Amino acid sequence: MFWHRNIALAAVAALSISSSALAYEFGRTATPEEMKPWDIDVRPDGKGLPDGSGTVGHGKEVFAENCAACHGDNGQGGIKDRLVGGQGTLASDNPIKTVGSFWPYATTLFDYIHRAMPYQAPGSLSVDDTYAVTAYLLNLNGILPDDAKLDQVSLPKVQMPNRDGFIPEPEFRKITNSR
Ligand code: HEC
Repeated sequence: MFWHRNIALAAVAALSISSSALAYEFGRTATPEEMKPWDIDVRPDGKGLPDGSGTVGHGKEVFAENCAACHGDNGQGGIKDRLVGGQGTLASDNPIKTVGSFWPYATTLFDYIHRAMPYQAPGSLSVDDTYAVTAYLLNLNGILPDDAKLDQVSLPKVQMPNRDGFIPEPEFRKITNSR
């Protein structure tokens, strides 16, 4: 039994050594053009936000068409997460965690929607539609006015209600968010 296990371990070790040697013998470095569709991360301070813009008004249409089926009309929640409301409840006995009550950075909303929503077709929204639906969700949460328009300059300036509700890890303390 013990003997068999040792043989199995040796086989696994041999396999991993040979495959790491082989790893250098095929493939090539991806070109910047090939990496572009994957290089979509947006940082808390807005670094990485693409060119483009979107209004609350247009975001309402984008939401109705692409999001309301799961998140409910006006983001009040449906078969999936509620996205609106809950501000001021986090320290209560019945905390309601939403984008508006919990998330510290508005830029993360853009990043998340752009990479992950709509759930069944991630990456399908255009940059402009993503700015628009981000603006609409922030408007529903009372964070942006009805006539707001977001782009790579204005989005990082949005101050989220729970911005200071987190204790950052020391390595992230240097990140500042324009107010
Ligand atoms: C088919 C159903 C579906 C559709 C359509 C959909 N979502 Fe979602 N959404 C989900 C699910 C499921 C989650 C939770 C995913 C998880 O936790 O991994 C989620 C999570 C989210 C969250 C994070 C909520 C939180 O507090 O963590 C946001 C923001 C969001 N969706 C926005 C959108 C937007 C904007 C659209 C339209 C462009 C959209 N979703 C369309 C199913 C959907």
